[in-house]
Amino acid sequence: MNDSLTKKTPIDACVVQNKIQQSGLEKVGLASIRELVRLVNEIEKETGDKYIRMEMGVPGLPPAQVGIDGEIAALKSGVASKYPMIEGVDILKNEISRFVKNFMNVDVDEKNCIPTVGSMQGGFASFMVSCRRDVKKDTTLFIDPGFPVQKMQHKVLGLKYDTFDVYNYRGDKLRAKLESYLEKGNISTILYSNPNNPSWICFTEAELKVIGELATKYDVVVMEDLAYFAMDFRKDLSKPGVAPYQSTVAHYTDNYILLISSSKSFSYAGQRIGMMVISDGLFKRHFPDLKRFYKTDEFGYSMVYGAIYSLSSGTSHSAQYGLAAILKAANDGDFNFVEIVKEYGERAKIMKKLFKDNGFEIVYDMDENEPLADGFYFTFSYPGMDGVKLLEELLYYGISSISLATTGSERIEGLRACVSQIKRSQLKDLEERLKIFNEHHN
Ligand SMILES: Cc1ncc(COP(=O)(O)O)c(C=O)c1O
Repeated sequence: MNDSLTKKTPIDACVVQNKIQQSGLEKVGLASIRELVRLVNEIEKETGDKYIRMEMGVPGLPPAQVGIDGEIAALKSGVASKYPMIEGVDILKNEISRFVKNFMNVDVDEKNCIPTVGSMQGGFASFMVSCRRDVKKDTTLFIDPGFPVQKMQHKVLGLKYDTFDVYNYRGDKLRAKLESYLEKGNISTILYSNPNNPSWICFTEAELKVIGELATKYDVVVMEDLAYFAMDFRKDLSKPGVAPYQSTVAHYTDNYILLISSSKSFSYAGQRIGMMVISDGLFKRHFPDLKRFYKTDEFGYSMVYGAIYSLSSGTSHSAQYGLAAILKAANDGDFNFVEIVKEYGERAKIMKKLFKDNGFEIVYDMDENEPLADGFYFTFSYPGMDGVKLLEELLYYGISSISLATTGSERIEGLRACVSQIKRSQLKDLEERLKIFNEHHN
């Protein structure tokens, strides 16, 4: 019998246990995000109680209005009946190029800035090209923890990957660790997200320099996943053309693909549009082994007229105009998107304190010598309990999250909390539930 059945928990323990049993999940603590979403939906429906839902990383803010207006205008002008160009409409390509200059201080020709159906598709297409460009280099290296779907994409594509948890290899230790993989000669691509999903670590400039230098030395492509663009709120990244900028490996190597999502930074997840930015140098390089899959051996051409063409023949026409409008407003200094999403940082700060005040610990807590930023996610654990058990136990207390064990993290005691769906009005409930949990387990 679960311990929680002998105590009065905030959510009816019998219902929770029955629903867990009916779910057919072997281990709830290792369930995927979508499986947990379904389970918690069912418990909420049966009990009428609302959970503190921290399992899924969806935006909790309204979409950027300027984007909606841009899309409506485009639809009214008739774009819905026309196929968009696969490489993207000119106005958007130009704004993406301006955006990476203004907010990253990186120069990329607009030709090499391509809209994709979310960063999800940008990643998939990049794997299809980057991981197939050299017969000898058949493995991706994930700097984990990471976003599990990208590993699923590897499985679907029949690609190999290797991974390590960066927690113990920050700063000076990163070079030797990376080199231990790269010197084997089989790594095609390095992938990480920055800020990181799930841990919210942000690489320092010194770490990005190491990654960039090694990428050049071993001729490896770095896929930098910027799904949480400009969301390291410790710095003011909101001013176009003014330092500080979003940190990037692009300052340290020419072997890069940047994946910039519009889902979180512009709360535009539903429109499934993202940006793929390929360095000018990499775009025009030739890799004879690409001919096994594509008509040409040129990297950029294979990406656009091989990978993206075969996946979706481009990206929704109206969404391209919506994103172009958002970027134009940001580039012109008329739309401060960072100010809006700062709300996530404020929430995280309060929520982390509530967890710490009630016996929990923050798992990933430092960027070298600097405390981690407060942002979209944070990670936590409870002394003496592993993450799988903790996740299940918290369900009885009306709190849902995901296990770090599903993200390539070695910190299996930890869970990931996503703050985006938690309303300020729910923080009182969260505090009470954490308090009861701590009383029951202390
Ligand atoms: C690290 C990471 N990469 C990529 C994505 C997917 O982004 P998009 O919504 O643009 O497909 C997410 C979404 O949660 C993410 O967390």
